[in-house]
Amino acid sequence: MIAELTEDEVGILLTAAVHAPSMHNTQPWRFEVHGPVVDVLLDEERGLPFEDVSGRAAHLGIGAAVFNLRVAAAMLGHEARFATSPDPARPEIKARVYLDRRGTPVPELSCLYGEVAQRHTYRGPLLDHPVHPTVRRELDEAARIEGAELHWLEPPDISGLRVLLHQADAEDGYDENRRQERETWIGGDRSGDGVPERALGPQPVRQSFVRDLSAGFDSTHRSQAVYETAPAIVVLSTHDEDADAWTRAGLALQRVLLVATSYNLKASFLDQLLERPAPRAQVRELIGGRWPQMVLRIGYPAQTDGHAGRRDWHESFDRWF
Ligand SMILES: Cc1cc2nc3c(=O)[nH]c(=O)nc-3n(C[C@H](O)[C@H](O)[C@H](O)COP(=O)(O)O)c2cc1C
Repeated sequence: MIAELTEDEVGILLTAAVHAPSMHNTQPWRFEVHGPVVDVLLDEERGLPFEDVSGRAAHLGIGAAVFNLRVAAAMLGHEARFATSPDPARPEIKARVYLDRRGTPVPELSCLYGEVAQRHTYRGPLLDHPVHPTVRRELDEAARIEGAELHWLEPPDISGLRVLLHQADAEDGYDENRRQERETWIGGDRSGDGVPERALGPQPVRQSFVRDLSAGFDSTHRSQAVYETAPAIVVLSTHDEDADAWTRAGLALQRVLLVATSYNLKASFLDQLLERPAPRAQVRELIGGRWPQMVLRIGYPAQTDGHAGRRDWHESFDRWF
């Protein structure tokens, strides 16, 4: 075990961590560094009490940040092990990453380091190119290594999802609490957190497999687009359903997203299918009873897009022991 991390190393590790995706870009994490150990904590003040009632999405974001930390550690030449819920006396610590002696970069994960800053959620239309079976298998493997599974939905199941998506979006439209929560985090010209208008993608002219996060408070600046009719839709699932399973699902999600990025693939999220028990139960049935943790639309982008920003890592850094 190394004695401690240098300030530069902490900067590299946490800069990578905060590039992780999180629902509405809330960045629901805080970090503590104890010698060679980095703790990743849930920041309760950055929760979404109406749209993420259980905290599942926040845990996924934390897991994704932990995966980025491991990738950056590998690039720096540290072996990294991690544990979920490491301290029963402090349940807010969701993951602990232990870093070992610095040597040469760890190839298996460090090769993904370049993708950390390249990966972004893409909400625009996709080209009609299919995802090659070899690439699909690599993405399957990425999920499997982190203890999750990917399910590539067949066309009849995807048609079924269309109805569920419509229902979920319609329910959102009538829910004043959810609408207000979204208004807090989405739209306008934001830089440090939340989803700015430039990252929303065009407004779909017909119902499509992309979530329009603007939820009815569009500005007049947004363009419109016709979306692909048959995107690849993939469900990431876990065997268990508890807070640790959610965190681990976040690691798997991020590994899948970084491998996808290395093939120039882009993804967007259809979390509205999992935020209420009824549609989630239907997605669960579709994938044979495993717990769905994320539904992704994956493909090759047909347009350029804008990105959501991040807070500087110092803003989520608590303590240095
Ligand atoms: C658990 C989770 C749920 C998400 N749900 C959605 C969603 O339903 N629709 C969407 O467009 N983006 C969704 N996102 C993507 C976030 O909005 C995105 O990660 C965040 O704005 C940061 O932007 P970036 O991914 O481009 O870095 C989700 C991300 C996570 C981790």
